[in-house]
Amino acid sequence: MTMMRAIEYQGAGGPEVLAEVARLKPVPGPGEVLIKVEAFGLNRADVQQRKGVYPPPPGASDIPGLEVSGTIESVGQGVAGISEGQRVCALLSGGGYAQYVAVPVGLVLQVPENVDLVDAAGFMEVASTVVSNLFLEAGLEQGDTVLLHGGAGGIGSMAIQLAVAAGAKVLVTASNEEKIAYCLALGAHGGINYREEDFAERTMVLTDGAGVDVILDVVGAKYLAQNVRVLANNGTLVVIGLQGGAKAELNIGALMAKRARVMGTTLRARPLAQKEEIVAAVRERALPLLAEGSLKLSVDRRFPFPEVAAAHEYFDSGRHTGKIIVTP
Ligand SMILES: NC(=O)c1ccc[n+]([C@@H]2O[C@H](COP(=O)([O-])OP(=O)(O)OC[C@H]3O[C@@H](n4cnc5c(N)ncnc54)[C@H](OP(=O)(O)O)[C@@H]3O)[C@@H](O)[C@H]2O)c1
Repeated sequence: MTMMRAIEYQGAGGPEVLAEVARLKPVPGPGEVLIKVEAFGLNRADVQQRKGVYPPPPGASDIPGLEVSGTIESVGQGVAGISEGQRVCALLSGGGYAQYVAVPVGLVLQVPENVDLVDAAGFMEVASTVVSNLFLEAGLEQGDTVLLHGGAGGIGSMAIQLAVAAGAKVLVTASNEEKIAYCLALGAHGGINYREEDFAERTMVLTDGAGVDVILDVVGAKYLAQNVRVLANNGTLVVIGLQGGAKAELNIGALMAKRARVMGTTLRARPLAQKEEIVAAVRERALPLLAEGSLKLSVDRRFPFPEVAAAHEYFDSGRHTGKIIVTP
């Protein structure tokens, strides 16, 4: 039996619950590939799982980690078109904090030549979240205006670039001027410091009173009323995070008057077929931009495997812009 190093959560709590353990090296099943992990990306879901409030979905590994990059170590039965040694990145429902991970081949993309393989670890979860919500769900189009809350985060950094590339006007919120400057440098057209000004008031000014066609929201309850207020006619609010709570009152009348929609999604719990569709859309929409260099992977900091708890501490501090990456 071959073993590998992995990280598990020993109980629920702060970064101190992370522990390095020896686990069995996975064997790829039919339709799967085994990836030798070069690096994994941190996501807020990892932190929520660490705190014990976001358990892995049924059937998923208890090892955390929703995205990796690496090289193909071996392929399972029935896998064609991908071979050992190829540089890849993958979307996972768990298991990324390890030296090896097995994943259905439909959730794997080849990393373009010009892209650093370690940086590519932070691509799949954010790209899949952004492409599925902005384009497949909310139908963002050229000429639309989109408001991105948390513009300087991992999701926000990718969303800014993909929305700009699609020809949308992009507004962001963030907690300080440094983060706003970072978003503007990524291509955002306007930034709102939500600690200094009311984001709804400012959004209406920046859109000449028209409001926005799409909102990608990571705050939830606390922003619901203001988000509905700034939606344009036929607009869509997609809630993907609950950093400001889950329960709020909704003025359905305001929604009806605008023929607007409010929806929520999670990526991790979607059935495999849906995830494969999303990854195919990422291949179409985001991978070419990555290959030509117009989409940048915004990596804030890399940590070595033994310092994964420090990486979680840094994530918890909220000081980061873009992604935090760990190399096993
Ligand atoms: N539903 C899904 O499928 C899915 C998938 C992936 C991620 N997510 C969610 O998306 C969110 C972002 O994930 P991430 O990986 O990008 O995390 P991240 O890098 O930590 O970014 C989170 C951002 O939220 C911002 N924020 C927090 N409170 C805010 C507020 N009141 N107003 C505006 N911005 C606020 C923070 O920026 P400031 O310092 O500027 O406040 C931070 O930049 C998380 O809530 C995560 O759970 C959902």
